[in-house]
Amino acid sequence: MGFPSTFPAFLVLVLLELSLVRGNYPPPLCGRVEANDTDQILFALNLEYLEAEFFLCGATGEGLDTINKSLANGGPGPTSCQKANLDDLVRRIIQEFGYQEVGHLRAIFHYVGGFPRPKLDISSKTFARIIDAAVGYPLKPPFDPYKNSINYLLASYLIPYVGLVGYVGTIPNLGCKSSRSVRNLQIDLFSHLNPNGLVARLSLGLVAKLLGVESGQDAVIRAMLYDRGKEEVHPYGITVEEFTIALSGLRNKLAMCGIKDEGLRVPLELGAENRTTSNILSADVYSLSYARTPVEILRTIYGTGNESEPGGFFPRGANGKIARKFLYQGY
Ligand SMILES: *[C@@H]1O[C@H](CO)[C@@H](O)[C@H](O)[C@H]1NC(C)=O
Ligand SMILES: *[C@@H]1O[C@H](CO)[C@@H](O)[C@H](O)[C@H]1NC(C)=O
Ligand SMILES: *[C@@H]1O[C@H](CO)[C@@H](O)[C@H](O)[C@H]1NC(C)=O
Ligand SMILES: *[C@@H]1O[C@H](CO)[C@@H](O)[C@H](O)[C@H]1NC(C)=O
Repeated sequence: MGFPSTFPAFLVLVLLELSLVRGNYPPPLCGRVEANDTDQILFALNLEYLEAEFFLCGATGEGLDTINKSLANGGPGPTSCQKANLDDLVRRIIQEFGYQEVGHLRAIFHYVGGFPRPKLDISSKTFARIIDAAVGYPLKPPFDPYKNSINYLLASYLIPYVGLVGYVGTIPNLGCKSSRSVRNLQIDLFSHLNPNGLVARLSLGLVAKLLGVESGQDAVIRAMLYDRGKEEVHPYGITVEEFTIALSGLRNKLAMCGIKDEGLRVPLELGAENRTTSNILSADVYSLSYARTPVEILRTIYGTGNESEPGGFFPRGANGKIARKFLYQGY
């Protein structure tokens, strides 16, 4: 006589529970992260803060605190805030992007809430380390994102795209078990209708509107880089196109969930309808946007390939329920 057929499943449950109790349950590798709408939308604040500081500093030499200190919600300032040496066109575009990020922060606070700005490291050293990891050897002299327009645009290539794929990944998961995640929209007036459905639609609307602008920013940055794609970045002898391919490759490697990020030139089988190697936009086999989960995003923005090990732009980790639950105490 054997065990009842339910035994193995029971055993698995016990083991799972044990690991939950000890707090070291395995994180999802590429699957969705369980969280309510509020926490999912708040996760994006990490990226919005990063974008705001990087663009405002790059264009004006002054970050979020000079616009309105209370937008930081008491969080610390970035490690360094450096004005980039930009030509007039790029400076005007980046300045506008910076102000747009301020609007995004205000929108998320207004509709969902907020948390303190995480500690951000946007020093040239951090970018240099990422670029070295991407090309596979230390560049000499170290890559300086603030040196000129092309370097700054290459550094910017790293920024809105992560927000874009994160928002695309968030949308299908909204409304799963939300109730009152969106404030200030007079939902009470309609709540006898279908409160969950209505709130879900409001969250969806907000994320769609954020996504629209993030993808526009990414497209502008990629278009400007594309225009100079064959140019060698001085003094490295590496073309702009080659840099984008290396940076996208690094992010795919760190995120560990397949190809969801493509440089400005791709093999034919990754091009639109397999008919072109030109790749001004990064998109899948149907030319639809790639999506990433918060865990994949943490692995890339930390630069460690590990959602439990902060680093990169977030030396003390990202904030909010989702990011903090993967971090060990002490960060
Ligand atoms: C600064 O931001 C806070 C929080 O969003 C807001 O209440 C306040 O009115 C803003 N102050 C200014 C001067 O815009
Ligand atoms: C979502 O979960 C957070 C805790 O992680 C909680 O503070 C918040 O009230 C929840 N929101 C909703 C709408 O359930
Ligand atoms: C393009 O190539 C990929 C990989 O070989 C294949 O999966 C896909 O179906 C092809 N697309 C078209 C439109 O033929
Ligand atoms: C991620 O980092 C944590 C904390 O340092 C470590 O315990 C874990 O083994 C790492 N995971 C992987 C896949 O390396």
